[in-house]
Amino acid sequence: MFNTPVPPEIVKKGIQESGLEKVGRGSIREIVGLINNIEQASGIRFIRMEMGVPGLDAPGIGIEAEIEALKKGVASKYPMIDGVKELKNEISRFVKLFINLDVTPEHCIPSVGSMQGSMATFMVSCQRDVKKDTTLFIDPGFPVQKRQHHVLGLKYESFDVYNYRGEKLREKLESFLAKGNISTMVYSSPNNPSWICFSERELQIIGELATKYDTVVIEDLAYIAMDFRNDYGRPGEAPFQPTVARYTDNFVLLISSSKVFSYAGQRVAMIVISDSLYSREFPHLAGRFSTARFGYSIIQDAIYSLSAGVGHSAQYGLRAMLKAANDGTFNFLNDIKEYGEKAKIMKELFIKNGFKLVYDQDEDKPLADGFYFTIFYPGFSGLDLMEELLYYGISAITLDITGSKRSEGLRACVSQIKREQFNDLRQRLEAFRRNHS
Ligand SMILES: Cc1ncc(COP(=O)(O)O)c(C=O)c1O
Repeated sequence: MFNTPVPPEIVKKGIQESGLEKVGRGSIREIVGLINNIEQASGIRFIRMEMGVPGLDAPGIGIEAEIEALKKGVASKYPMIDGVKELKNEISRFVKLFINLDVTPEHCIPSVGSMQGSMATFMVSCQRDVKKDTTLFIDPGFPVQKRQHHVLGLKYESFDVYNYRGEKLREKLESFLAKGNISTMVYSSPNNPSWICFSERELQIIGELATKYDTVVIEDLAYIAMDFRNDYGRPGEAPFQPTVARYTDNFVLLISSSKVFSYAGQRVAMIVISDSLYSREFPHLAGRFSTARFGYSIIQDAIYSLSAGVGHSAQYGLRAMLKAANDGTFNFLNDIKEYGEKAKIMKELFIKNGFKLVYDQDEDKPLADGFYFTIFYPGFSGLDLMEELLYYGISAITLDITGSKRSEGLRACVSQIKREQFNDLRQRLEAFRRNHS
């Protein structure tokens, strides 16, 4: 038995008590519970990279605005299902100033996190045409969106984009779309878990094909403006956040406030539907929903039946942060840039100790440093590597559960790691290397 930073008997006991046959197949929440138990039993603080949660405090601007709204009495009043007017106006401005897109406020809708945004959009987009009954996930991706499909009884297909970057993406996408059954394409960019960012050329391919095959694209911008290779944080000034919306009218953007504004606890996000898609009528919708209109169905059927709108004060909190960002008085990237800086250092520590990056290129460019990165250690499967790293006080999740075909890989999230832990990380990785070289 190797000498490891965490006593092996404690790790083994924790794994046994978790009831998980293979730790790497557990859900993120199960892994969180397991690490909590091992930390408690061993008294050793882990390098916790398993969960994608913000590692920063929520901005005071949002909190103050919520308190003020509560004091004014919003708690006793039902919010409008489609969102408070002032928030809708600021979302529309935000989309113009940071993405350079024109979308009318009416078509900018708050949701209870992007989680609800995707659920509501799937409910409508995936049931708008009887022949188009399947979603295409451009993976790797956020596993809960597939769980939403299971819950809704919807079909999906997926492929790992790793081998299909650049022009190769066209043929691959067309091999699915030409069958005629794809209602909706889904991806995130920057991507959870791989942190790949689609290039303009790739977005153009996705957009052109979406129009050609009349497929809706759900572009998940949970990490909007967080490709720190470019400064997307100056209102009204290029460069703007890249988007498929420049290449097709068939788009729905989901913009979470959880990471970019460190506002995960308030569960408030934005659904932005293209002006033309919002008003389009799909006869098949009328059979199930109260109307055939796409946008109206999302609000009056999907969101109404899910939660009848979004918590009132959270809407005012988001509104205040967006207004300050739009007015140029709140540079929301200043704080979160720290994620990119930490990722750069942490990646180097892993690579120095024999690890390699799984997803490492955007076409011809090295990947950005951001919220996540992906690693493997030659000779290990992802499942085994994840378990082995527990003995070294390091936690991550396997790429298996994200639709990635790179089963040797792990996803590491930088957000919860403090700089003062870098030394521990270095020592633990060195120990790992010594024991496995
Ligand atoms: C790609 C992606 N989409 C959506 C979400 C969910 O966002 P929200 O917290 O707004 O529900 C996350 C959260 O981690 C994510 O990574």
